[in-house]
Amino acid sequence: MTASRLTTVDIRACKGVRPVVVLTAYDVLMAQLVDTAADMILVGDSLGMVRFGLPDTLGVSIEMMEHAAAAVYRGASRSLVLIDLPFGSYEASPQQAFASAARLMRAGAGAIKLEGGAPMIDTVRFLTQRGIPVCGHLGLTPQAVHVLGGYKVQGRDTAGADHLRRDALALAEAGAFALVLEAVPAALGNAIAASLSIPVIGIGAGACDGQVLVSEDLLGLTTGKPPKFVKRYADIAATIKNAVAQFADDVRQGRFPDSAHSYNL
Ligand code: KIV
Repeated sequence: MTASRLTTVDIRACKGVRPVVVLTAYDVLMAQLVDTAADMILVGDSLGMVRFGLPDTLGVSIEMMEHAAAAVYRGASRSLVLIDLPFGSYEASPQQAFASAARLMRAGAGAIKLEGGAPMIDTVRFLTQRGIPVCGHLGLTPQAVHVLGGYKVQGRDTAGADHLRRDALALAEAGAFALVLEAVPAALGNAIAASLSIPVIGIGAGACDGQVLVSEDLLGLTTGKPPKFVKRYADIAATIKNAVAQFADDVRQGRFPDSAHSYNL
């Protein structure tokens, strides 16, 4: 890791000072493009859906995350690289989580992210005490989609909200350096952020202490109706379609390659 790369200590120090900006990347190209704007680059297991067309994140393997982590690490020189532990690689025991997290740290992670509250507290403590910084993930936890009954907003009723507050506090007390909070009412997200000493990074969870979005969503590269929390800042899909259509037309009409793009003897 270079001296100029942000660390989890820098991210924690943002709390109450400035919002933390988190963007996803799964490859070297996107990492290079978002590195200047982001504080953290999340190699999310959303790569399974965004890049591999899987129906959910459950089919993502540790090997897929390792390859993506190494590529993103090579592409980023400033941001902290945060890597998701994929489904099935950490839930069984703290020891299993350590073995998986160590693989991702060797691939370039500055920290790992895992989903879940109370059942993960021992694991968060185990990892942080052994040199692996952990970011929690609560609210809509996509790896639990089959238990949650779909991609639904969480914490809308009092019991659900109280549960989330307790889990958030427990994760922070166990040593998590930050928490991603996904798809909860804005007021609850803000209240949880205000109650913790670590940065809460929202995604459809109000203003919190920072924000994360999937880069392909904000760039307009993904198709279909995005979740309500996605704001599209560009329509790159249209730009790409237009460019490749022009290329195809040039080839078919004999306009490409022209002399400017051909070698002389
Ligand atoms: O996998 C991912 O991209 C994520 C974000 C949506 C927070 O976990």
